[in-house]
Amino acid sequence: MEEELQDLRKQVDYLQQQLHKQDKMASLGLLSAGIAHEIQNPLNFVINFSKMSVKLLEDLQDIVDDCAEKLGEDDAADLQDISADLQENLTKIQEHGERAISIIRGILLHSRGKAGEMLPTDVAQLVHEYVWLSYHAMRANDKSFNITIQEEIPENMPKVMVIPQDLSRAVLNVMNNACYTVKERAAQEGADYKPTIEVKVALDHDGSEGKLRIDITDNGMGMTPEVREKIFENFYTTKPAGQGTGLGMSITYDIITKNHNGELLVETAPGVGTTFTFIIPVKIAK
Ligand SMILES: Nc1ncnc2c1ncn2[C@@H]1O[C@H](COP(=O)(O)OP(=O)(O)OP(=O)(O)O)[C@@H](O)[C@H]1O
Ligand SMILES: [Mg+2]
Repeated sequence: MEEELQDLRKQVDYLQQQLHKQDKMASLGLLSAGIAHEIQNPLNFVINFSKMSVKLLEDLQDIVDDCAEKLGEDDAADLQDISADLQENLTKIQEHGERAISIIRGILLHSRGKAGEMLPTDVAQLVHEYVWLSYHAMRANDKSFNITIQEEIPENMPKVMVIPQDLSRAVLNVMNNACYTVKERAAQEGADYKPTIEVKVALDHDGSEGKLRIDITDNGMGMTPEVREKIFENFYTTKPAGQGTGLGMSITYDIITKNHNGELLVETAPGVGTTFTFIIPVKIAK
């Protein structure tokens, strides 16, 4: 009798825990969908005003061209330079604004539980882009911190079918963790330590089928077996409050194993570093 009661109590505890977890996930989904939605509007303004400014700049350029004789040669050349720079800046604002929009769309899709679409993707370019995006995001907070990034990314790799939105998020999550851990180690070890992240992309293929492999290796803190065991759990984090939600690796795990039918391998040793490897079966795009 006593034993049965204990068993029942355990079950109730377990179910309560599960409920709590689901609650947390559901409210997090809602929250991120809400935030993503709200950010879309101001971002659209940024993009549209920047487009308008490009047009205005063209008009301005016409007027300057008409007045070319009245201006000295030096002034005319200066004006040309400034106007070209402005044009370039505005184009960058648009480009990055649109990228932010597409990331937000990805978040909205994910939080609604809709699956992304497999699209012909230049994975070499995608990995390169998101590796540097993560690096620059980190540097935006601390300009003095440098990491050596070694890329081994093939040129002329054929496009393959993946869900670009998801794969880029997976690369970003692993890179963010890698940047964080080398920074943590640098703070402990000082000048002799050289923070390094290696990124490798390889595609093995035969006809229309292939195997994509992406390795990201850091020489950061590494993980103890206890930490290593839990990293794919939702909300598991060893970071101080406010610095990690503990969702990065669990999302990455789903992206690689569920959405892409692939494998996610981890090799890690405390004081040495960590390698995350994605192995994904892919179709070569026609
Ligand atoms: N490259 C790494 N080196 C050392 N520890 C790592 C590495 N990657 C992940 N971890 C460990 O795994 C934990 C979970 O990682 P995960 O990315 O899921 O969450 P997080 O980085 O803490 O938060 P966030 O949701 O912001 O990504 C980390 O808190 C850290 O302890
Ligand atoms: Mg993380």
